[in-house]
Amino acid sequence: MRAAVLCLLNLLIVTGSDGWHEMRIRKFKKNFLFGAATSAYQVEGGWDADGKGESIWDKYVHENRNVVADGRNGDVASDSYHNWQRDVQMLRELGVDFYRFSISWPRVLPNGLSNEVNEAGFKYYDNLIDELLKYEIQPMVTLYHFDLPQALQDLGGWANPLSITWFEDYARVIFKRYAEKVKFWITMNQPNTICIEGYAGGGMAPGLSLEEGGAYECVKNVLLAHAKAYRLYEKEFEKEHQGNVGISIAVNWFDALVNTTENVEATERAREFEFGIYLNPIWGKEGDFPAIVKSIVDKKSKEQGFKTSRLPKLSAAEVKLLKGSADFLGMNHYTTFLVEPGTTKYESPSIEDDRNTKYSQGPEWKPGKSSWLKSAPYGLYKACIYLNFNYDYPPIIITEHGWSTGPGLGDQSRVDNMRAYLGALLLAIEDGTDVKGYTAWSLMDNVEWTAGTSERFGLYEVDFESESKTRTARLSALVYKHIIESREVED
Ligand code: NOJ
Repeated sequence: MRAAVLCLLNLLIVTGSDGWHEMRIRKFKKNFLFGAATSAYQVEGGWDADGKGESIWDKYVHENRNVVADGRNGDVASDSYHNWQRDVQMLRELGVDFYRFSISWPRVLPNGLSNEVNEAGFKYYDNLIDELLKYEIQPMVTLYHFDLPQALQDLGGWANPLSITWFEDYARVIFKRYAEKVKFWITMNQPNTICIEGYAGGGMAPGLSLEEGGAYECVKNVLLAHAKAYRLYEKEFEKEHQGNVGISIAVNWFDALVNTTENVEATERAREFEFGIYLNPIWGKEGDFPAIVKSIVDKKSKEQGFKTSRLPKLSAAEVKLLKGSADFLGMNHYTTFLVEPGTTKYESPSIEDDRNTKYSQGPEWKPGKSSWLKSAPYGLYKACIYLNFNYDYPPIIITEHGWSTGPGLGDQSRVDNMRAYLGALLLAIEDGTDVKGYTAWSLMDNVEWTAGTSERFGLYEVDFESESKTRTARLSALVYKHIIESREVED
């Protein structure tokens, strides 16, 4: 009862309807971890340097020259391949506890398989990790952030069940090399982006259309690959090295546009298709894909004349393997969507068809530079409470949260957004959410996939015109530094 009253009170505060919260200052606990994040393709550059293999993003942007909005792709990006010392210096300036970055699979295993190791590629990560540790910044390593070795895509990529073994072998190579030094691991970043946007006409590499795709096969294989890597760590590395292994899921918030039965049902579909499909197998009581997802896709597949469901089944052994296969939930949260039942985008059987939802955003919410990004901090609070109720208070690390502006230094809107969301996060923590840490996306400007450098997420601005890709602190970097130091947020 007391918890419910507290919840209600904080919900009023976070939605701004209590009328007295303006002056409150809230504090994070001492052991709360603050970090900043990037990913390999988005910052490294050196796309073919020193024996690196081609990734699906390299091929995708080279073969489709117009696919990147401003033409600036990841060939050079922020050139972190050469600027890693400056990157660590920035992290020291901020005073972060950890740095989340990803390893480029084709940089270290050029053809994707563990029979050919590129030592020169490994040297880059050796240097970066050692430099971080020298200054007591914990490395948080993402094993897969969208850049599959093209050689493996040529064999079907994540739609091929062999991808589970390819990933497990890759994970073993990385764990062996770095388990001593790295204590935070993220297996996969945003499976929904990998599978739904990559294999069902969503415009991300490998850029497959729905018909070519295999999106749901990808979902299953990516989840199982994650679970295999988790179990591998658990069995062979955990005892000696005591690290934590999690997975990052995009958990934006979805609320009914208006409170009608149709909209509420559509909202439930949105949540289950957007994140329940990844969360439920790992944190759900019964495991497996959510019941709604299974029944909708099974039913539609039948109507569409498919012999078996387009959604592959998880066997009892697979359900067991997946259940509990994470030490923490990496939550990537940026925005909120308002949901109603929607018209479909495609003529042919599609993921959108299955979900049957249409999204909009509050007209009064402040817009970021990215078309999908609006500021609605209450959504973070509500998403946390939803996770608590539905998945029994999972330990959470916010592995991404951020804001895009256009090119240039000014970023008061990023500061406002960060403060407001950290305030909402503190309320969620007050109401029992087990949040261990927060990661700002991003440490610096980088290649925002097909948006190129037209959308800037950096605490540090990068001058992409300059030879050295000069980095300059934005106001948000100074404010974040102050928050980390004081552990306080005024919102
Ligand atoms: C999530 C992705 O993980 C990251 O790569 C991307 O840059 C941000 N969202 C912003 O869109």
